[in-house]
Amino acid sequence: MSKENFLQFYRDAFLDKDLRDEFKAVTSMAETVKLGQRGGYNFSAADARAAMIAYGEEIAAVVRSARAQPAVKSAANTIVGYNYDFNIDEITGFDAIAREAAELKIKPTSVNLAAFDQLFKKEDLHSTELSPASAEFATINDDITTSLQTMPKPSGEAGYSQRDIHLINLDLNVEHPEYDAYFQRKVRMVRLLSEFFDADVKFSGGLWYPPNSYRLWHTNETQPGWRMYIVDYDKAPREDRAFFRFMNPKTKELVTLNERPRLVRFFRIASRAEGLFWHCIVNASASHRWSFGFVVPETWQSRLLQRS
Ligand SMILES: [Fe+2]
Repeated sequence: MSKENFLQFYRDAFLDKDLRDEFKAVTSMAETVKLGQRGGYNFSAADARAAMIAYGEEIAAVVRSARAQPAVKSAANTIVGYNYDFNIDEITGFDAIAREAAELKIKPTSVNLAAFDQLFKKEDLHSTELSPASAEFATINDDITTSLQTMPKPSGEAGYSQRDIHLINLDLNVEHPEYDAYFQRKVRMVRLLSEFFDADVKFSGGLWYPPNSYRLWHTNETQPGWRMYIVDYDKAPREDRAFFRFMNPKTKELVTLNERPRLVRFFRIASRAEGLFWHCIVNASASHRWSFGFVVPETWQSRLLQRS
């Protein structure tokens, strides 16, 4: 009956305001199972996957009815750049959000940093120096893509192990003493941001980048739309050692943005038809970096200007 239990949980998650808010803070299957358990639902990750196949139609109908709410007015024509960085302290009305974000910067005891360090690959880090439009990159990228098909998926306990994503996904680590408080903060963040932007906001990932970590070149093309990332460090990284890099989709020029603590970054993920947004993140500094991602409405810019 657990498959049915997942379907019920999914329906309730879209009907019940509190559960729906909590569901918006979930980014991994491990978190979905844990949230279900807390609410008295009984299903495993395997049950959830089986339910998605068995009840695909019903689940799609639940999502369709939730999306039937009035659409958010588009502000896309006012946006010309690809990336916008702000200091979190400069955004009017972001005080409570900044306070919650500071507390999200956890280092779960379930993570084995020595094992994590062993997965570091100098040649993979080097690929971030290449242009995604170059032939040399294509060769390395093919090798990485092929090797990913034979590598194990990140396990629930580790939150790392994928060659192209050498960082720790906090949302895959749900069995440690700080998890429950961390999750409740995520829920509060989603509520505060939905209020700020006056639109639906969803958590897209809680990531911890210890020293010598990276996210190699990628496009996120399957999830187009605006993202907001709150980026922070435990101490200011050495200049040039920690950066966000992207390729201008039109000119193919590489743009490197050195990072500092207390940053809020907006950028738009494009689908293949619009010209891919290739980007990568490197923390080759001795500092720890965290980033918390959110799917934000297209109207984010007008909201930000209205309030400042
Ligand atoms: Fe990304």
